[in-house]
Amino acid sequence: MCAHTIMAIRSKKWLCATLLFALALADPVIVLAAPGDYRGGYDTPDYRTQSEDLLMRKGSAADLLGAVRNPPLGLPQVPIPANNPISATKIKLGRKLFFDRRLSLNNTMSCAMCHIPEQGFTNNEINTAVGIEGRTVRRNTPTSYNVAYLKRLFWDGRETTLEHQIWAPLLSHQEMGNPSPGAVIEKIRALPDYRGLFQAAFEGRGVSMETLGMALASYERTLVSADSPFDRWYYGKQDKAISVSAKRGFELFTGAAGCSACHKIGTASALFTDNAMHNTGVGYARTMQTMPATRKVTLAPGISVDVPTTIINSVGDARLADLGLSEVTQKPTDRWKYRTPSLRNVALTAPYMHDGSMASLGEVVEFYNQGGFFNESIDSRIHPLALTKSQRADLVAFLMTLTGSNVATLVDDAFAAPVGDWREGDPEWAHSAVRNGLGRHEEDTQ
Ligand code: HEC
Ligand code: HEC
Repeated sequence: MCAHTIMAIRSKKWLCATLLFALALADPVIVLAAPGDYRGGYDTPDYRTQSEDLLMRKGSAADLLGAVRNPPLGLPQVPIPANNPISATKIKLGRKLFFDRRLSLNNTMSCAMCHIPEQGFTNNEINTAVGIEGRTVRRNTPTSYNVAYLKRLFWDGRETTLEHQIWAPLLSHQEMGNPSPGAVIEKIRALPDYRGLFQAAFEGRGVSMETLGMALASYERTLVSADSPFDRWYYGKQDKAISVSAKRGFELFTGAAGCSACHKIGTASALFTDNAMHNTGVGYARTMQTMPATRKVTLAPGISVDVPTTIINSVGDARLADLGLSEVTQKPTDRWKYRTPSLRNVALTAPYMHDGSMASLGEVVEFYNQGGFFNESIDSRIHPLALTKSQRADLVAFLMTLTGSNVATLVDDAFAAPVGDWREGDPEWAHSAVRNGLGRHEEDTQ
C-alpha cells in the first residue's frame, strides 16, 4: 500500500487530487456527534473508518414542526416571516431538497454534504469548504443549527433571509456550480419524484425561485437546538446541570473575559451572538500570515510526507484574499469584520472562525487571552485578558456546556431523509426535460 502510494505520487495529477484531500484531513477533530467518522489516530496505520455509506443510513423522523413552534429551553420564539408561514409539508419538502445531490450541476453535492448533520451540521474534517469537483471555497462552513435566529447570514453578513440565501451556494461556481436559477428550477420541475410536491406545499404554486427558497428555509428553521446543560442550569435553575469549573467559566464569560459583550446571553433566552460585525483580528492575521517552507501532509493512515509549500501552492488554488464586511460595503473601516457566530453547539462545530484556522476551543481561548490578533482597527472589546491556565480551562468547560439536548434527535431525523441521487431515467434539464414536455407548462397546471 505504501509503495503503491509513493509510486503513484509521481503522477502530478494524482498528487494534486490527493494533496488537496489530505490537506483537508490534516486537522485534528475534537468532538464529533455519533455516528460520524472519528479521526482520532488517523496518523497511525491501524486507523479504521467508522463512516457509513450515505445510502445505507437509517433514521427516524422527528416532530420538526413541533420544534419550531416550541423551541427548546433557552431559545426565544422562532421568527417566521409573514410571507412564508411554516407547515409540515414545506418542512418535509425543504428537507428532501437539503439532502438532494441533484441540486448541484453534476448531481454530486447536496447542501448536507457541507452542512453534515452528524458533524454539527458543518464539516469537522476541513478548515474551509470543498465544493463541486473539489473546488476550493475560501471560508469555513458555518453550522445550520439555529440559523433561524440570524439577522445577517454568511461570515461577512451579506445576506439577510434564509429564503434568499440558498442562491449563493446553488449558483456559486465553487459550491454547487449551477449556471442559473432557471436551470435549477427546470431541473427540479423535470424530476418525477418532485411532481406535485411544490403544488401541495404552496397552494398550487410550482417550483420557482421563491418557493424553492421558502421550502429550504422552512426546513432550516426547524434546526433549533438548545436545552443544553447551560440552559438547564441558567434558565432551568438546575444547580447540578453543569460543573463547578463551567460555572466559573460562565463568570469569566460574562465578567472579566468580556465574551458576552458580543456572544449575548439574555434574561429569558440566549443566542450567543449580537448579530453584529466585529474585527477580532482573525482576518488580519490570515492576510499577514506567511507559510512555512514545508508542510506535513497525511496521505493515508500512518503515511505522511513533508511537501514543499511551493508544490502545494502549484497544485492548489491561489490563496484567496478575505476582507470580510468591507467586501460588501466597500468601506476600508469594515476590513476584517465578521459576524459574531452563535456559540450554541460549539463543541460540535470545530474547526473555528471564518477561515477554520483554529482547531480547538482551547486554541480559541488562547487567542482571546492574548488579545486577539492586534491590528489598528481591532474591536475595542478585544484586549489581552491575562487569564491563568485554570481560568482558561474553566472558559473551555463553559463552552462545552452549550450542546443542545436534541442534537441526536435532529441527526436521527436527518438520517431519515431520503438522499436525492441521480437515477437512470431522470430527465436532464438541458435537453430531455423540455423535449419530453416535462417542463414548466405541465408542472404548473397539475
Ligand atoms: C460546498 C459547501 C457548501 C454547500 C454545498 C452549501 N453550503 Fe451553505 N455554507 C457553506 C459555507 C462555506 C458558508 C459560509 C460562506 C460565507 O460566509 O461566505 C455557508 C453558509 C450558509 C448559510 C449561512 C449560515 C450563517 O451562519 O451565516 C446557510 C443558511 C447555508 N449555508 C445554507 C445552505 C443551503 C440551504 C445549501 C444548499 C442549497 C448550502 N448551504 C450548500 C458551505 C456550503
Ligand atoms: C468584539 C466581539 C467579540 C468578543 C468580545 C468575543 N467574541 Fe468570540 N467571536 C466574535 C467574532 C466576530 C467571531 C468570528 C471571527 C472570525 O471568524 O474571524 C468570534 C468567534 C468565536 C468563536 C468561534 C466560533 C465558531 O463557530 O467558529 C468562539 C468559540 C468564540 N468566539 C468565543 C469567544 C470567547 C470565549 C470570548 C471571550 C473570551 C469571545 N468569543 C469574545 C466576536 C467576539
